[in-house]
Amino acid sequence: MPVTIAGMSETVNQPGILASGRTLGVIGAGVMGTTLIKGLLDAGLVSRRQVWATAKTQSTCDAVAENLGVQTTRDYRELVATAGIILVCCKPGQIGGVSAILQESGLRPDTMLVSILAGVSTEKLESLLPGEHVWVRAIPNTPCVVREGMTAICGGRGVTAEHLAIAERIFSSVGRCSVVEEHYCNAITALSGSGPAYMYLVMEALADAGVRVGLRRDLALELVAQTMLGSARMVQDSGRHPASLRDDVTTPAGCTIGGLLMLEDGKIRSVLARAVEEATRIVAELGKAAKPAGQKQAQ
Ligand SMILES: NC(=O)c1ccc[n+]([C@@H]2O[C@H](COP(=O)([O-])OP(=O)(O)OC[C@H]3O[C@@H](n4cnc5c(N)ncnc54)[C@H](OP(=O)(O)O)[C@@H]3O)[C@@H](O)[C@H]2O)c1
Repeated sequence: MPVTIAGMSETVNQPGILASGRTLGVIGAGVMGTTLIKGLLDAGLVSRRQVWATAKTQSTCDAVAENLGVQTTRDYRELVATAGIILVCCKPGQIGGVSAILQESGLRPDTMLVSILAGVSTEKLESLLPGEHVWVRAIPNTPCVVREGMTAICGGRGVTAEHLAIAERIFSSVGRCSVVEEHYCNAITALSGSGPAYMYLVMEALADAGVRVGLRRDLALELVAQTMLGSARMVQDSGRHPASLRDDVTTPAGCTIGGLLMLEDGKIRSVLARAVEEATRIVAELGKAAKPAGQKQAQ
């Protein structure tokens, strides 16, 4: 049931994700950071006054403060000790500097740290920040922006079921969330993290195909985007195998089987598999490149 926090006009749903008097900090208020803040605020999991955010430039800080109504600052050292949860949403190459600031700013041992950095393992995160700090690693994707994200989460050293439950609530505010074992993370980054880019490429190609057979481009794109959305919803809602759903569309001697055979001739299955395989290999390499503060980051 929603409750009003004393002195605040907003409501926070019970049970909250923050202990009394603690804050939620977002380090790196870019696309993903601000998306998460919006999701959390709209879901009523935190109030504006419980949230602070930081970015590299003052212009980003100003824009986030104006758009989201939360406290922002480039120098967040005084806020670190107030945090119950910190979402680390900067780029992987910035984690060395960020962890150095956390270390010197009185980060409490019970503060839950959540990283969305692509390819950076909990073992790597723990090594960058001495002490018994708790890290949850998350792999979200950009459809979080429209609340249709897919996020996988896993825990590092000392993470409890309660930590994971809180992280699940955070990412469920912007889509779906699953708890996974960490050894799957590179594959997940390559599949659902990079996945929107694959889908956009397929949509672009299909829209071109529509133009080829005489449709206006705007109409072709609308047809393709809604068809992709609806097909995804059919898979989710029916729980049926995609092959079985495909059979429903494929009438004997009809046009769909002709189109499907052309896709098979073009080796669509192995091309997609090889794409995900290559992305998995690359993300593993990127993860190895994250360096502690003071060491030069590989580009
Ligand atoms: N986008 C995706 O599809 C996706 C999916 C999964 C995971 N991720 C991960 O999400 C993270 C953020 O991605 P994004 O797309 O949101 O990037 P983004 O829009 O570029 O946001 C990064 C933010 O970090 C800020 N920043 C830079 N250096 C900083 C520092 N030293 N301390 C604090 N903040 C700093 C930047 O500030 P300024 O704005 O002032 O430069 C910017 O606001 C990345 O690690 C990425 O691997 C992204």
